[in-house]
Amino acid sequence: MTDNSRENSGTNSGTHSGTHSAAPLAATLDALRAALGDDAVRVGAEIGERALTDWTRHDPTRPAALLLPRSTEEVSRALAICHAAHQPVVPQGGMTGLAGGAIARATDIALSLERLSGVEEVDAASATLTVRAGTTLQAAQEAAAEAGFELALDLGARGSCQIGGNLATNAGGNRVVQSGTARDQVLGLEVVLANGDVLTSLGKMVKNNTGYDLKHWFIGSEGTLGIITRAVLRLHPRRAARHTALVALDGYDGAVNLLRRLSTRFGNDIGAFEIMWPDFYDFGVKLTGTRSPFADPHPLYALIEHAGFDSGDDGERFAAALTDALDAGAIRDAVIAQSVADARALWAIRECTAEFPVRLDAINFDVSLPIGEIGAFVDRCRAALDRQWPGNVAYFFGHIGDSNLHVTVDGHSLAGVEHHAVYAFVYEMLRPLRGSVSAEHGIGLLKREFLPISRSATELAAMAAIKHALDPHGILNPGKLF
Ligand code: FAD
Ligand code: LAC
Ligand code: ZN
Repeated sequence: MTDNSRENSGTNSGTHSGTHSAAPLAATLDALRAALGDDAVRVGAEIGERALTDWTRHDPTRPAALLLPRSTEEVSRALAICHAAHQPVVPQGGMTGLAGGAIARATDIALSLERLSGVEEVDAASATLTVRAGTTLQAAQEAAAEAGFELALDLGARGSCQIGGNLATNAGGNRVVQSGTARDQVLGLEVVLANGDVLTSLGKMVKNNTGYDLKHWFIGSEGTLGIITRAVLRLHPRRAARHTALVALDGYDGAVNLLRRLSTRFGNDIGAFEIMWPDFYDFGVKLTGTRSPFADPHPLYALIEHAGFDSGDDGERFAAALTDALDAGAIRDAVIAQSVADARALWAIRECTAEFPVRLDAINFDVSLPIGEIGAFVDRCRAALDRQWPGNVAYFFGHIGDSNLHVTVDGHSLAGVEHHAVYAFVYEMLRPLRGSVSAEHGIGLLKREFLPISRSATELAAMAAIKHALDPHGILNPGKLF
């Protein structure tokens, strides 16, 4: 990663709204030091590499300062000062985002939630977990498991991404097909508003129809409406019996039929349904140094998890369903993991995306389309990419159980082509299909100009009105989303 301190150019150049000019930075930093203590305000070389860019490795930029508050109250004090000074602030979580949403400009102050971490409470009666925003997803998952529950949210970045970042992006991940997105796990939320006011709504109730459900405005708002400091998350009964299979298929329609066949048989016990086209699968096998369990190549692969409550014969029933599918010609072949290590090895192929930033010049897409249309879209997209850029290398995979397709194009195979040209090319293909330019990673910086492909002028105007009402000086993550 290159380190530079220049002002971000091009795409990361959003303007500040509001009519007042910003107070001098030095005075703002003095006020922040007085409020938070010297060690919570870092500048220049004291700011580590981590704060410069996210997992996209896009445009690394050293912010004007990095704040490290330890409590909601300190976040509140910091925002009150920045609001009064019209000073832009960029919330930073685990920096694993894939849309450039946490990248600050050289004139912005970054605010990291990393010190505001830890699980505050597991309430077994309510089946809830109260957690600070800077807690890693994995730590929250482990606390839930220790108490005999399960946190349904799971994604490859679990060891680094934070609950605050997961909620700010409304992360999806591997279990949406069973338990929904990050949004669906939230019962209560605490948010610090742009002016420093603390909006605490940490209720554990499942039902609460007392006016607008404000938490949903902040979930998925990518740090543009408030800084999430704490959350009450739903816990689920632990699905202790997990059985993982890798299935070889004839093609995409067969994958959709298999999902329907398994859902009919097992209902909500299908815990994951991930599809890998051969380009991705072969790359994943190579990267992880595993051997494909299949002797021959196949047109499509599905990684499927049966996640049940251990009725004793879950494994046999899952195996029988796959045998029936094989006998009916619905699948070509299947292997079922015989141990936790086997299952991990199969998941490692799917989760090789963690290596993309190091191995590729990754141009990532996380689009969504109705599930029945994704197969044809992949064929058209691949053909169009090949016509436009012969020799390009592109990987197709995704959380197809929840209608989310990922495409990653390797920029190394497109010498001299700007990433922007590739984004524009693929997103334009979505326009006539009314697809979404972001299923789960968010808009951030990189998809900002493509948002109108998926949202009408009226929707965008309503979003802008909400933004203006909650952040009249436009200090929160300016230049992102809009
Ligand atoms: P960051 O990257 O730090 O920030 C993301 C955005 O949230 C930024 O706009 C930031 O300003 C804002 N933000 C962060 N914290 C707060 C806060 N406390 N309050 C307000 N705003 C805040 N995503 C999926 O949805 N599904 C996947 O399957 C998936 N797999 C991934 C696999 C890998 C290997 C990697 C690297 C990423 C993956 N992601 C996936 C991307 C995903 O968006 C992030 O991993 C995660 O949700 C972001 O969390 P973070 O803490 O790293 O946020
Ligand atoms: C994944 C990331 C790229 O699904 O969202 O692996
Ligand atoms: Zn994903």
